[in-house]
Amino acid sequence: MKKVITYGTYDLLHQGHLNLLRRAKELGDYLIVGVTSDSFDRGRGKLNVRNNVLERVEAVKATGYADEVIIEDYLGQKIDDIQKYDVDIFAIGSDWEGKFDYLNEYCKVVYLARTEGISSTMLRAESQSVYRVGIIGSGRIANRFVPETKVVNGADVVAVLNPSAKDAKMFATRHGIEAYIDFDSFIENVDVVYVASPHLTHYDYVKRSLLASKHVLCEIPFMLSKAEALELYRLAEERNLVLLEASKTAYSPAFGHIVTLIKSGIIGDVVDVKASLSKMVEPPIRELDAQQAGGAMNEHAPLTLMAIIKLLGIDWKDVDFHTKRENGVDIYTKGVINYPHATSSFTLGIGVKTEGNLVISGTKGYVYVPAPWWLTSYFEVRYEDQTKNKKYFYSYDGEGLRYEIQEFLSMIVNDRRSCYKLRRRESVAIAEIIEKYRNGEKVTEI
Ligand code: CTP
Repeated sequence: MKKVITYGTYDLLHQGHLNLLRRAKELGDYLIVGVTSDSFDRGRGKLNVRNNVLERVEAVKATGYADEVIIEDYLGQKIDDIQKYDVDIFAIGSDWEGKFDYLNEYCKVVYLARTEGISSTMLRAESQSVYRVGIIGSGRIANRFVPETKVVNGADVVAVLNPSAKDAKMFATRHGIEAYIDFDSFIENVDVVYVASPHLTHYDYVKRSLLASKHVLCEIPFMLSKAEALELYRLAEERNLVLLEASKTAYSPAFGHIVTLIKSGIIGDVVDVKASLSKMVEPPIRELDAQQAGGAMNEHAPLTLMAIIKLLGIDWKDVDFHTKRENGVDIYTKGVINYPHATSSFTLGIGVKTEGNLVISGTKGYVYVPAPWWLTSYFEVRYEDQTKNKKYFYSYDGEGLRYEIQEFLSMIVNDRRSCYKLRRRESVAIAEIIEKYRNGEKVTEI
């Protein structure tokens, strides 16, 4: 039996793909199609892919040409696959002429004529709707957000809202956009909203934006109570709108891969997760202002809780906190979350410095993500037998906000209301734990 293998993204599957798959199939008896994973595409700078990997796999299957579909997830995988599946022919479109000659060492390489006049890039450009993005708030994160939208197709930041006319104007001038001080005139002129205002205003701004039928990306801490989070996700659902928590690490290529590797059992059963995040700050600053919901917990719990919940789930048994306060805000908080079969802890500091790493311990080995783990571009899987250790490298480009922006737009374009990288129920669980701390449940002062 002659086996043929071919690879591609197969986004917005088109006639060019169909022709290529048919010709590849005709080269042999059995066709294996490698479809790129979302993280692999992002890692190689393809940020604008519209269909997610499941949708693309389904589209390839539906052509009827593939006998087997596999996922391409890392550089160098082609050589592994060719040997593993005992492949005779590697086929690819002629746009890659010469680029895969190195595979001749393992099998025959065939470049098939590319269909002229069509490509996913072209289809994306044709159907591209550009969303007018309005930013609520004009602080540090909002300033970092604007340049990140430029590397993602389909987002055009046009407006900023800040009740302080001076702040709004300054931000608008810096970024060449319109300044608004009044919500109603702001919301009329945008299609989607990025909420990056002070924490205590998130609920109100998100609600008003949803009521005005706008999709919303909301900065962390998303909500400070379970009820608020539930209410807003329900409202978004009722109005068929996207509401996404901007927990940037959740959407980054490396973190996504950590989760899938662990779920596939690479370190056995997960028994403990330790996540730390510390960033020292000096007054005067919002983080140290009790009136603005400052403090280590409100600032940094969302990312560490995201990691714990992604890895251990939402069915925790109990949670307690130890905290050190100064001038009404916690400068250090440690929390322990117990699960029926695992434990976890998070250590947060804004006035106490600690190593900001992530360690996930399992029955076969552990994953070590060095500080700052939330900007992950590198991690290691380690075992008792050190010769089995493996290092993984990824890109984490710019400020890393491009990944959440891309996810947000892709959800809108593809009519997806839920995102597997951070489920709504996971986001609600994060809000619930923060709320417990804020209510003083099982909080011990040190
Ligand atoms: N292909 C083809 N003819 C086209 C477009 C793609 O033969 N008009 C082939 C590619 O050469 C490759 C396979 O289809 O072998 C999958 O390519 P992919 O990168 O998914 O398709 P493109 O449409 O080229 O995507 P993009 O524009 O995002 O690069």
